[in-house]
Amino acid sequence: MAKTSESTVIESHLTENRVFKPSKEFSKNAHFSNLAAYKKLLAQSIKSPEKFWAKEAASLLWSKKWTQVLKWKAPFAKWFVGGRLNASENCLDRHLTGPHRNKAAIIWEGEPGEKRTLTYHQLHREVCLFANILKRNGVKSGDRVLIYMPLVPEAAIAMLACARIGAVHNVVFGGFSSESIKDRIMDSGASVVVTADGGYRRGQIVPLKQNVDQALAGVKQVRRVIVFRRTHLDIHIEEGRDVWWHREAEYVAANCAPLAVDSEHPLFILYTSGSTGKPKGILHTTGGYLTQTAATTKYVFDLREDDVYWCTADIGWVTGHSYLVYGPLANGATCLMYEGAPNWPEPDRFWKLIAEYGVTILYTAPTAIRAFMKWGDEWPRKHDLSSLRLLGTVGEPINPEAWMWYFKNIGKSRCPIVDTWWQTETGAIMIAPLPGATPLKPGTATLPFFGIDAAIVDDNGKEVGPMEGGKLVVRKPWPSMLRTIYGDTPRFRKQYWSEVKGFYFTGDGARRDKDGYFWIVGRIDDVLNVAGHRLGTAEVESALVAHPGVAEAAVVGRPDDIKGQAVVAFVTLRSGHKAGKDLSEAIRKHVAQSIGAIAKPDDIRFTDVLPKTRSGKIMRRLLKQVAAGKAITGDTTTLEDFSVLAKLGAAQE
Ligand code: PRX
Repeated sequence: MAKTSESTVIESHLTENRVFKPSKEFSKNAHFSNLAAYKKLLAQSIKSPEKFWAKEAASLLWSKKWTQVLKWKAPFAKWFVGGRLNASENCLDRHLTGPHRNKAAIIWEGEPGEKRTLTYHQLHREVCLFANILKRNGVKSGDRVLIYMPLVPEAAIAMLACARIGAVHNVVFGGFSSESIKDRIMDSGASVVVTADGGYRRGQIVPLKQNVDQALAGVKQVRRVIVFRRTHLDIHIEEGRDVWWHREAEYVAANCAPLAVDSEHPLFILYTSGSTGKPKGILHTTGGYLTQTAATTKYVFDLREDDVYWCTADIGWVTGHSYLVYGPLANGATCLMYEGAPNWPEPDRFWKLIAEYGVTILYTAPTAIRAFMKWGDEWPRKHDLSSLRLLGTVGEPINPEAWMWYFKNIGKSRCPIVDTWWQTETGAIMIAPLPGATPLKPGTATLPFFGIDAAIVDDNGKEVGPMEGGKLVVRKPWPSMLRTIYGDTPRFRKQYWSEVKGFYFTGDGARRDKDGYFWIVGRIDDVLNVAGHRLGTAEVESALVAHPGVAEAAVVGRPDDIKGQAVVAFVTLRSGHKAGKDLSEAIRKHVAQSIGAIAKPDDIRFTDVLPKTRSGKIMRRLLKQVAAGKAITGDTTTLEDFSVLAKLGAAQE
C-alpha cells in the first residue's frame, strides 16, 4: 500500500507548560549563557556545519591536519579527510605536559567498596603497558579485540590501549550471555578477547571468564584470552590460549608510542539490538567521533576544571564509550566510575557516592530515575547532595513526572537537567539543552546541538508543522555518525537511509513545539493506532506515571475489531499502593483527564516488573504479544530478566 503523508501524522495531546530558565548563578560561569547569541550560532552552525566542526576538531591534537573537512556521498561520510591522529593520545598524552598530569582521571569504587584513583599520568602508564601486552600477544592495527569486562578501570584501559595501537575494540556488556558473546565474536571476526575472572553485581560474582569459555567452545578464530584478576574466583585457564593480565605485565615496557591513524580509521564496533533480527555492529571511526564526543561533553555538560563528573552507564553501552571514556578524558575531566548496582547494599548507594566524592555532574537514565522514585524519597534525603550542580538523562523519553522528581529530590530545584537525545548510531549527543542558556521544559531534549540538522518530516521528507508528529530525521551528515553496519552495508542503507529519501532516519517519532523544541513520542514501530488516531507511547505513559500510585508504565496496542487497536497499559506501582479494580478505574480516569478519552487505556494490567533490555529500555514488542494473548516469539536474548515473561503471563487486571 502506498504511504500517504497522513499516515505519519502522530497526534499529540499532552501539553507541558512548566518552563525552567537557567539561574543567574549557573549562567554566570557557563560556556553559553546568552540565549540570543546561542541561537544565532546554532542557526549559523546548522547552515554551515563544516565550519563549526572544523573549529572544534582543531582543538584536538592531530599529527597531520586534514585537507578537506567533509566528503559526502550519501550515505557515506568521511570527516577530516587526510588527517591523522590517535584517540588515546588525545585522551591521555595531551594532558601530561600541563597541570592535568597529576589530576585524577578516574576515581573508581568497586561494589564491595574498594577505592582506586588513577591520575592522568598513572592512566597513561597503564594504557601503555596494556597496549604492549596486546602487541606481545600479536594484536595489530585493524584487528578486532572483544572486551567483556566488569566496570573496572581496566575496561577503559583496554579500550584506550586498543585505540593506541589502531586495534578496533568491540565491547560486550558484562550482563550478556555466552551466546551473545559468541555471535559478536563471529560477526566482528575478533581474534583476541579481554575479560576478567568475574565482576560484582548485587553481592554476587558474575562468572565472566566462564561465560567466555562457553562462548569459545568450538570457536577456533580466537587465539588469545587475556584475563584480568578481579574477584579471585577459581577459573579454568586454557593452556596455550589464556593468559593473565598481571603476569603479562611483567614482560612489557611502560611506554608505547601512539600510532597515528587516518581520521577514518575504525575506532570501535558496538552491537545494538534491533527489536527484531540479529544485532547490528555499529562502526565508528576516529577523528569525527572524537571531535563530536569532546565538543558535546564540553558544552552540554558545561564542563569545568574542578568538576567531578559521573556518568552511571556501563562501559558496554555507547553512553559508556562516549561519556565515560572518550568525551570526558579528551577534555581532561575527573570521572567517577562505580562497578555495581544502584541498590547495593541499600537503595542509597548512588547518593552515598555523590556525597563521598563530591560529584558535581550526574548523568543517568530515566529507567534508573523511575526506580529511585519507586524506592522512595527517603533514600536521597539521607545524604548531602549539595555538591551537585548539573544533572543529565539519556536513553528514553523522560516522563515529566520523573523529570520533576529528579529536579526536586536530587537537584534540590537548583540544578539544570540536560535531557540528551542520541543513539548508538549517532555516536554522540544530537539534541540537548545548553544548561546555561536554554530554558528547560520537563520531558523534552529541547534543541539540536550545533551543526545538527534534525527535522521532523512526513513520509515524503516534507517538514511537518509545529505540534504535528512525524519521523525524526537528520538531514545532513555529522562527524560522529556511524559509517556502516560492520560487514553489512546493504542493511546499513536499508535500515537508516531508505525510509525517508536522502535523510538519516532515526526510527523515532517526534514533534516540535512552538519554540522548536523536540519531543520524542516513542519509536515509530510502537505507535498506537486507536480508531484512526496515531498516538505515541511516551505521552500515554507520561500521563500514567503522573498518577501518584504509578511508578512505571508501558503501553501497547492490542488488536480490536472496532477500534483497530485497544490500549493496554502495563503498570508497576509505587510502594504503599495496592492493585485492584478501584485503582485501575482511577488510573484510566486520570489518563482520560490529562490527555483525552482517546488515550484512555482499555485494560490496566498490574505487574511487579516490566520486561527490559539490559540497558533498561522497556521491550514493548514482548508486551504486545502478551497483550494479544500470543506466545512470545522473536529474539529475547537481550532481555534482562527472563523470569519476567512468566510473571507477565500472570499480570492481573
Ligand atoms: O528512542 C530513542 C531513545 O533511545 C534510542 C537510542 O538507543 P541506544 O542506541 O540504545 O542509545 C541510547 C544512549 C544514547 C533513541 O532512538 N532515546 C535516547 N535518548 C533519548 C531517547 N528518547 C527520548 N529522549 C532521550 N533523551
